[in-house]
Amino acid sequence: MVHIFLTGASGYIGSVVVDLALKAGHSVRGLARSEASAAKLRAKGVEPVIGDLFSLDVLAAEAKKADAVLHLAFIHDFDKYDEAVAQDQRVIATFTEALAGTNKVLVVTSGTGVLQDTGDMIADERTAIQPGGGAAERAIAEQMCVQAASRGIRSAVMRLSLHVYGRNGSHFIPIQIATAEKDGVARYIGEGSNVTTVVHVDDVAAAFVLAVEKPFTPGTIFHLGDKYDTGMTGKKIAEAIAQRLSLSQVQSVSFEEASVVWGPFLAWAFSLTNQYSSGLAEKELGWSVPEGRSVLKYIAESGRVEA
Ligand SMILES: NC(=O)c1ccc[n+]([C@@H]2O[C@H](COP(=O)([O-])OP(=O)(O)OC[C@H]3O[C@@H](n4cnc5c(N)ncnc54)[C@H](OP(=O)(O)O)[C@@H]3O)[C@@H](O)[C@H]2O)c1
Repeated sequence: MVHIFLTGASGYIGSVVVDLALKAGHSVRGLARSEASAAKLRAKGVEPVIGDLFSLDVLAAEAKKADAVLHLAFIHDFDKYDEAVAQDQRVIATFTEALAGTNKVLVVTSGTGVLQDTGDMIADERTAIQPGGGAAERAIAEQMCVQAASRGIRSAVMRLSLHVYGRNGSHFIPIQIATAEKDGVARYIGEGSNVTTVVHVDDVAAAFVLAVEKPFTPGTIFHLGDKYDTGMTGKKIAEAIAQRLSLSQVQSVSFEEASVVWGPFLAWAFSLTNQYSSGLAEKELGWSVPEGRSVLKYIAESGRVEA
């Protein structure tokens, strides 16, 4: 049994990590910043730890008690993205100080948005990150985690797709569904030919649990993407949303128009080509994705409406 301390345990992905970790026989203590989150954790069999991402003393104490720290919490306020990124770095620095020299596991979460627009290339875990813009700011936190390996920590970064989906959740797709429902039109940006790699939340959560169970090269960045369910474009998402909501209209909008509808950060994310491979997770963690998942079928038939 591995004693896990989890931040973001009450969140969309963290909740599934909790389910899989408990099922595998591990114990979980989870950060809870409200009584509602604490109650949610207790109901699942997780010991809540009252605190938030600013309670650095609490985070350090919990890291010292645990065998493995899985850090999934993030302040998803895209209007104050720089502040969220800065706090994420403080949290990772705190975990690194607490775990230095222990050979314990520290897994932090990032997104393949750091790769920005991959164009015609399929990026891998060694593809250089271009500084500045969009989600690339999270690459600094990634590097802090990579470097923690040199301080005696089995550290890893999980880079998740822009579109983690399944179990009635995710962020970006439900936001697009909600605006389409409100405005009676499903939109895509430009030609809508931008292609993104996707991943199901169950597969993401499985990788976090594998990281506490399997040996891996400390300081590794893992991509998590579905290698079978490929070719999802901005236009195909809009068409699936239209099908889901029985809308007759699918409309191309300019980047500027999209920025008015969704804000500039989300317009950037929805216009991105973001394709990548996940070979290291397969090789080092024994991670695999089952064949036959379909994000477009999921959107059309079961994606939740509220953001
Ligand atoms: N979902 C995706 O498609 C996706 C894609 C790429 C990367 N990611 C990354 O994956 C990680 C998990 O994402 P998610 O989709 O599970 O997010 P989520 O559903 O929004 O959950 C966020 C979690 O962080 C916690 N949190 C937020 N602000 C906090 C604070 N100030 N102090 C303590 N806890 C705080 C939330 O607690 P409460 O329950 O109390 O609000 C919740 O448990 C994040 O790092 C995210 O950026 C997600």
